[in-house]
Amino acid sequence: MSLKERIEQHIGTLEQFTATPGCGTTRLTYSQEDLQARNYIKEQMKSSGLTVTEDGFGNIFGKLEGTLPDAPSVMIGSHFDSVPNGGAYDGPAGVVAALEVANIFQKQGLKPKYPLEIVALVEEEGSRFGGGLMGSRGITGVLTDTDFTSLKDKDGISTVEAMQKIGLDPSLPKGRNAETIKAFLELHIEQGPILEEKDIPIGIVDSIVGLAQYEVTVKGQAGHAGTTPMNRRADALVAAANIISQLPELAVKEGDGTVLTVGRLHTYPNGANVIPDKVVFTVDLRSGKEEHVQNVISKMKACIDASQTAGIEIVAQEQLYIQPKSLNENIRTLLEKKSKETNAAYCSINSGAGHDSMIFSDVTDVGMLFIPSRAGLSHCPEEWSDSRHIAKATEIFFEAAKQLTETE
Ligand code: GLV
Ligand code: MN
Ligand code: MN
Repeated sequence: MSLKERIEQHIGTLEQFTATPGCGTTRLTYSQEDLQARNYIKEQMKSSGLTVTEDGFGNIFGKLEGTLPDAPSVMIGSHFDSVPNGGAYDGPAGVVAALEVANIFQKQGLKPKYPLEIVALVEEEGSRFGGGLMGSRGITGVLTDTDFTSLKDKDGISTVEAMQKIGLDPSLPKGRNAETIKAFLELHIEQGPILEEKDIPIGIVDSIVGLAQYEVTVKGQAGHAGTTPMNRRADALVAAANIISQLPELAVKEGDGTVLTVGRLHTYPNGANVIPDKVVFTVDLRSGKEEHVQNVISKMKACIDASQTAGIEIVAQEQLYIQPKSLNENIRTLLEKKSKETNAAYCSINSGAGHDSMIFSDVTDVGMLFIPSRAGLSHCPEEWSDSRHIAKATEIFFEAAKQLTETE
């Protein structure tokens, strides 16, 4: 089977592990679908001769030992969870490319000096426990054990309970010393239209946007929809809608590519004839420049303060705050060199999406490649990327990994 066919087979298999067959990929962390994907990834790691372990967050590692004793690993990977009704490529494309890099090492009988470590990360999207980037934040120690164990999903199930339900062991070691990681490489789909429009198969990522996520809780008073006069209501949904309608304009006014999204909203008790007493919604805010993120946060808070009218109480809780990141120049240069040597047309590109790479970039040298997304679509069932592009990026990563596992 060719590399392209192997990639298609992996993507096609992982795609089946969804809670919403026919309506895209829904693979929440520590779900049955996570377990199915996890077993497949572990099997593939083993068949490429890797030693497989999991940590206390459920991140999966497949290691090819190096000949140097106790040397740090060249890590390659991405995440394998998804958003609700997402696509088959966001995350898995990077995991699959990493698996195939390891497979080429095996086929060529390579014995590297530094270990090669393939990693499949949990909960990058934050779709189950909020915040996101949980696997990489856990590995790098940004997310403490206490933070981790206190996280609950929307049904009140804790991370620990959810892990145990699929047979994972939360008491395994959590986090690792930065000195055990020599570099981190991640392939990801672009999730936007630039590479497709330029007809360029490879984007070498320069920088990743700064991002903030908030959860806003609006509390009012429940009551009867038919008998409560309009001037005697504290309707949480009306107050929330008033805030939400003002937020996009804050990003537009800030400009310079600043974007803001309210993507999740829950109304309680959610009855057609009951005045809502509670609304919880998320605000996701991004910009290449931190000052823009900061400005919009201040304005959002002012808008919330102004909405605290009689009977309405609002709390905005920060879930995630990450500064914009520039990726390592030496690795970018290495990826350019390997793109040239493998005859791949490339350009540099900035990332508007958040990635585990931005977390690893605080502790090690990080390189990221993007491949085109059809019609620029992602986080939806229509998400699609060409397996030839994944294969090309795999080739570049193999060459880069070969060099990084050999030299200082
Ligand atoms: C991940 O997909 C993100 O950018 O939120
Ligand atoms: Mn995503
Ligand atoms: Mn992703």
